Amino acid sequence: MREPHPFSTDFTWGVATSAFQIEGAWAEDGKGPSIWDAFCHQGGKIIDGSTGDVACDHYHRYREDVDLISSLNVDAYRFSMAWSRVQPEGRGAWNEAGFDFYDRLLDALQEKGLGAHLTLYHWDLPQALQDHGGWLNRDTAYRFADYAAEVARRFGDRIDAIATHNEPWCSANLGYGNAQFAPGIADKKSAIQVSHHLLLSHGLAMQAMRATGTTAKLGIVLNQWTADPATTSEADRAMAELEYARSVQWFMDPIFKGRYPELALRAHGEHGPEVLAGDFGIIGQPLDFLGVNYYFRAYCSAETPPRTPQGGQGYTDMGWEIYPQGLTELLLALKREYALPPIYITENGMANADSLIDGRVPDSARIAYISQHLAALAAAMEQGVDVRGYFLWSLLDNFEWNSGYAKRFGIVHVDYATQQRTLKDSAIWYRDFIAGQRQVP
Ligand code: NOJ
Repeated sequence: MREPHPFSTDFTWGVATSAFQIEGAWAEDGKGPSIWDAFCHQGGKIIDGSTGDVACDHYHRYREDVDLISSLNVDAYRFSMAWSRVQPEGRGAWNEAGFDFYDRLLDALQEKGLGAHLTLYHWDLPQALQDHGGWLNRDTAYRFADYAAEVARRFGDRIDAIATHNEPWCSANLGYGNAQFAPGIADKKSAIQVSHHLLLSHGLAMQAMRATGTTAKLGIVLNQWTADPATTSEADRAMAELEYARSVQWFMDPIFKGRYPELALRAHGEHGPEVLAGDFGIIGQPLDFLGVNYYFRAYCSAETPPRTPQGGQGYTDMGWEIYPQGLTELLLALKREYALPPIYITENGMANADSLIDGRVPDSARIAYISQHLAALAAAMEQGVDVRGYFLWSLLDNFEWNSGYAKRFGIVHVDYATQQRTLKDSAIWYRDFIAGQRQVP
């Protein structure tokens, strides 16, 4: 296996989480319910019937978790803020007790010399805003900008980077397109309109945060993949092209080119979004960084049954194809198509059927996954892609959305009955790998 090497000594190594997936304390200290609280409590939506009520109990154990992060030799921690913890209704009054939690978390990170990369929206909209239409209501974009500005005013000098959204493709398509995620709506036209409002809210939030004079780097995190045709047939190639336009270009083009991709717009037809004059001017705010989450490629086959992927390296416990070279290809394609700011890989990692055996979790498959993806990342960087950091998903096993606690993405194992954390072999590997990189001349 090619050794993932070399990364410069100022490259940022990190681990990532999100609020709903780890915090728990769903109704404590004045927090309002989010759409994910409502979705889980509704029943029948989450594979194992679980909720985020307790999750990893990070709200109460954040100190222990920051110590854990620090023990991994990483430079930075990527986490998200639960909007309804700091503004229970999504508009109006702020909840000081909620802000205090993030204040304490930032202090703990600072004490350990760890950088903070904050995401404002990792899918947990205040339910009170959902009651007014959620992201289908254009007004939600303006409420998001108010929230962003408040966070930047309060914390903007203590945070290295603030991302507006995490994976808006998922918020729109899984939340409103196929009902797999909260708020559980299945309506194609709504999903497309929501994607536009998410982009609009990103632009408004960027403007509002800039106006505060924050020193934090500002950007957005997008989940992206390459789309490979299964064969060279016309039909497969057309499918792949359309898939790429509907996913990667759908979010990148408005930000970097001031328009939606023609191919996708044509395919959406009457379901296309309502765009008001001036929207693209708002959406296209200059970014200080682009966050890329990479897990797999899209494999596009028009045949029935569809062809299965060729040339991959097996599948993760999510059933996702392991395809490290897709990361190189994706980054090179982005560099070709767009005038990019510096990139951070804000997520990459795998779910594995891990078990704790005599105090150890031997997850060699995850070590292979990470090291192959780091090699793929290094290959892109050697070909000129400006990547400044890599955040492993995830620090902890946690609430994997509609898969509940059944899928384990952590490099640290969590025993949910006792909340005991145990470093998996991959955590030890990552820790030692980072130490090794620091010795690179
Ligand atoms: C992307 C999401 O941002 C994160 O919340 C999720 O757990 C991982 N992918 C794994 O599915």
